[in-house]
Amino acid sequence: MKAINFAARRKKLMQWMGPNSIAILPAAEEKVRSHDVNFPFRQDNNFWYLTGFNEPEAVMVLIPGRKQAEFILFNREKDITQERWHGKRLGQDGAIELLGADDAFPIDDIDDILPGLMEGRERIYFALGANSEFDHKVMEWRSELMTSPAKRTGSPGELIDIGHHLHDMRLVKSAAEIQRIRHAAKVSAKAHIELMKACAPGKTEREMETELHYHFAKGQCRYPAYPSIVASGENANILHYIENADEMHDGDLLLVDAGGEFEHYASDISRTIPVNGQYTKEQAALYDVVLEAQLAAIEMVKPGNHWDHIHNKAVEVLTQGLVDLKILKGEPKDLVKRGVYREFYMHKTGHWLGLDVHDVGDYHLHGQPRVLEAGMVLTVEPALYIPQTMTRVNGHNIAKKWRGIGIRIEDDILVTSKGYDVLSKDVPKTRAEIERLMAG
Ligand code: GLY
Ligand code: MN
Ligand code: MN
Repeated sequence: MKAINFAARRKKLMQWMGPNSIAILPAAEEKVRSHDVNFPFRQDNNFWYLTGFNEPEAVMVLIPGRKQAEFILFNREKDITQERWHGKRLGQDGAIELLGADDAFPIDDIDDILPGLMEGRERIYFALGANSEFDHKVMEWRSELMTSPAKRTGSPGELIDIGHHLHDMRLVKSAAEIQRIRHAAKVSAKAHIELMKACAPGKTEREMETELHYHFAKGQCRYPAYPSIVASGENANILHYIENADEMHDGDLLLVDAGGEFEHYASDISRTIPVNGQYTKEQAALYDVVLEAQLAAIEMVKPGNHWDHIHNKAVEVLTQGLVDLKILKGEPKDLVKRGVYREFYMHKTGHWLGLDVHDVGDYHLHGQPRVLEAGMVLTVEPALYIPQTMTRVNGHNIAKKWRGIGIRIEDDILVTSKGYDVLSKDVPKTRAEIERLMAG
């Protein structure tokens, strides 16, 4: 794996910040799961992006152009007893040696040191609103500076949100980042394939979830990038079904939306397979509509195009398919215009993918859709959902044979200079491929 160049990211950010400024970013906090047990720690993605440091109780400070030190880290001190109970700490020496900090101080000293670092800086960049307690702290440090006659320099320091620019940096991925997302997708693809092989009527959604997570972990994706969705039959019509508790029945579909996280980078893959290994006539007909929509939408991924091209193409193919199957009646163009498809397809066709599964980055810039560039990574995930309760749409009955079917097909797509590369292409997605695999 290529090393991630955290220093280059900091340098780029500092160039944008300009002189007379300071950036202050906190690490994530530990979150209580229950009583005295925490969730496994997950670092804040902005903090990780700039430091590669994976401990809580830390604050990163960047001061462009400051001679003594530009990159300063406040972090926990080494503590033999604490480390015996809870694991190793980098400490201040480690921060300098291993993270490339110019200077490092114990986090407990931050109230004494930080106001001095802010002195004379005209612009204070921080993640406004991300952590209200920390926002409050920054205000406190700033006001201390303004009220202390010894330190007052006459410049109050303008507070600016750093999120927007940082998110823009995160949107276009480096080769090292793409390698990690590709690995996450490859491991997750293998997990989806193993699930397909293991799937059978009478087994439970939970067993399938276990199969996925086992293969994620085996491929060094210890955690799923988001709670896995393993939804059979009618459960597939609940968009974020994560109970994954029911027995799977002969004749039903199984919608699996799951991806592992590798070195902080997410994958996000959906497949919809027949529990017994063979799609019924109705399932097959709807499946082919969703697949055609997905393939056509993926063809829209290339530099210069934007999300409207992708989403509109998916909606157009889905609507035409529903009309061809006589589920919808009317003129496809008119049905699209009136948004009738939203009864069956109520979400967008995808999202950015990166450190976050729904990654940061603007979808619009200055009122215009964001144009795709090489190095962006996104999902394409059209779907059709026909719950049992959907008996009439647009003034027409929905035949019983179509109800209880939910289908989503989702892949992870890298925008390349020529078009696209499907990072999750190892998971089969035509009906013939899936049925062949499931037949053993
Ligand atoms: N699994 C969440 C999504 O597909 O966006
Ligand atoms: Mn998904
Ligand atoms: Mn997704």
